[in-house]
Amino acid sequence: METPQLSSLYQQLILEHYRNPRNKGELEEKTVEIHMANPVCGDEIRLQLRIEGDRIEDVKFLGSGCSISQASVSMMTIRLKGSSLDQADELAKRFTDMMHGDESAVREKSLGDLRALQGVSKFPVRIKCALLGFDALQEALKKEAGVAEEGPN
Ligand code: FES
Repeated sequence: METPQLSSLYQQLILEHYRNPRNKGELEEKTVEIHMANPVCGDEIRLQLRIEGDRIEDVKFLGSGCSISQASVSMMTIRLKGSSLDQADELAKRFTDMMHGDESAVREKSLGDLRALQGVSKFPVRIKCALLGFDALQEALKKEAGVAEEGPN
């Protein structure tokens, strides 16, 4: 699928992340890994996090797919490195709000480059693309919370 018509500046930023994805590769010593696929197109992301205490010490991803899904996860990893689990959860919520048309989220500095994806919210079939990495993140956070509740064996 082609990238929808976004402002050219934002489109350039999306394509730049797509062509030069940040934090792409296999993460050594990951503590959680989530595989997420879009069943409609088969695009996929494997998100890997190293969580220590309540902090994301490192993050990488593997995957293939459209420019929006891959740029979104690339931008997401930049925001996640070094953040607390609460901050990561908040980031996922704010980004999801933005994708569902909440314009106040666009002014959210914590979203960084992710704000370039705001225009995607006008293209309903592409929202799932932008959310693929964040769906993986939310699964990872749920999994981590489950581990924390069970406690160490
Ligand atoms: Fe598959 Fe975008 S077209 S995730």
